[in-house]
Formats: sequence, structure tokens, C-alpha cells
Amino acid sequence: MDQDNLEKKEYNSQDIISMWDDFHSVNDKAHLSGNTAAHVLKHLNIEEIRPAKVLVVGIGMGYECFYYVSVGAEVWALDISNRALDRVKGSCKILNTREYEKLPKNYFDLIVEFNVINHIGDEDFKEQLKWVVGGLKKDGVFAAMVVKPIEPEYNERWGQSTEMEKCVVGAHARKHEVFVKWLEEFGGKIVWQGECFYEVKSLGLENYCVHIKRV
Ligand SMILES: C[S@@+](CC[C@H](N)C(=O)[O-])C[C@H]1O[C@@H](n2cnc3c(N)ncnc32)[C@H](O)[C@@H]1O
Repeated sequence: MDQDNLEKKEYNSQDIISMWDDFHSVNDKAHLSGNTAAHVLKHLNIEEIRPAKVLVVGIGMGYECFYYVSVGAEVWALDISNRALDRVKGSCKILNTREYEKLPKNYFDLIVEFNVINHIGDEDFKEQLKWVVGGLKKDGVFAAMVVKPIEPEYNERWGQSTEMEKCVVGAHARKHEVFVKWLEEFGGKIVWQGECFYEVKSLGLENYCVHIKRV
């Protein structure tokens, strides 16, 4: 999905959870991305991984979940929005982000998070990292799309924007060193890093993907 050309719709959401619920209620593909599983797997460089147990974080239209169900994996879906989780209820185990403590530890062969981290504020993301990294098996892979600023002045430019604004445009970008530092804090380590595959020029951001292991 071209984030430079998001269709602008008016929402009156009061907070970030209801904002995502609203997007899901009307199948707002401009904000939900709706990336196919093939697109996600290719960019995350996980086409060869055949997981027995997979966790999809930030499920969007549910395409990644349905793909892994179709190849026989046990699939867990984690999302901020219960409306999102309704899409995969019955096919997957579902958890919202107020239920992290139900996430099993040392359990998943693969964790997939594409076009989500850039929608999450710092404190919520750190909380998520703690649980998600802890959910990985020792030899499991956490494959994630990450967003960083192209130029250092990016952080200044977005200094005035609200948390909602940043969430809605996916503009929670972190310098790579910051991301690595937080990962280490929660027991994760980058073992593969892809090139930038997409620049959101209007926001001064670039997207890349990483594989993370639990150390
Ligand atoms: C832009 S969509 C991307 C979905 C899908 N991965 C894709 O690429 O098509 C972001 C998804 O993440 C969910 N989300 C937003 N904030 C989240 C959070 N803090 N934790 C988990 N999921 C979140 C949204 O409800 C939505 O389903």
C-alpha cells in the first residue's frame, strides 16, 4: 500500500484502540494496508520458513493468518482491535494487546509483524517487545518490518504531532540504534537485516525488514 497516497477519511475516534476498531469496522484498506501474504513473506524474507506455530502481530485484513492456517500451522493472532480479531476468530487463537500475559513463553517458531511497529508509540511498543520476544522459541525467528527516519532531523519535524496522528500515518520511526538497544533490553538480537525496500518520501521514512532471535 502506497502510504504517500492514503485516502483521507474523517474519523472521530477518541483514542488509538477505537481508531483501529473504526478502520476495521469499515474495512478501510487505505489504513489497514491489506497486504497479501505473498507480499509480506517476500519482504520479510521468510518464504522458506515452515512454522508449526506462528504468531501474527497486527493482522490487518487477516491475510497472513489465513495463509498460515492454509498450510497447517497453529496460528495465533495478536491485534490492538477486537474488530480485527473477529476476522480470524474460529481459525486462529486470538489475543488483544490488553492480554499479553496469555501469550505463551518460548513457544513460537515464527512471529510475523509487517507494517505494524511504525503504528505503535514507544511505551506500547516496548511493552509489546517484552512479551513477543519472550514468546519466541530459542531457535525461532521474529520477522519484522521496521521504519527509520532517512534524515536525523525527522524526529524534530514530527515533534509537534500527536500520538494519534503518528499512529494513523504509521510515522513512529526510530533510529536503528534505538531499535537495537530496546531489542537487547528485552533479550532479542538482529540476525539478518534487509535493504530499504520502500521510502515514504513525504514523511522522510524508509522501511526495512529484520530477523530477530531470542538470545
Ligand atoms: C497497517 S495494518 C497492517 C496489517 C497487515 N500486517 C498488512 O501488512 O496488511 C496494522 C494492523 O496492526 C494493528 N495494530 C495497530 N496497533 C497495534 C498494536 N499496538 N499491537 C498490535 N496490533 C496493532 C491494526 O489493528 C491493524 O490490524
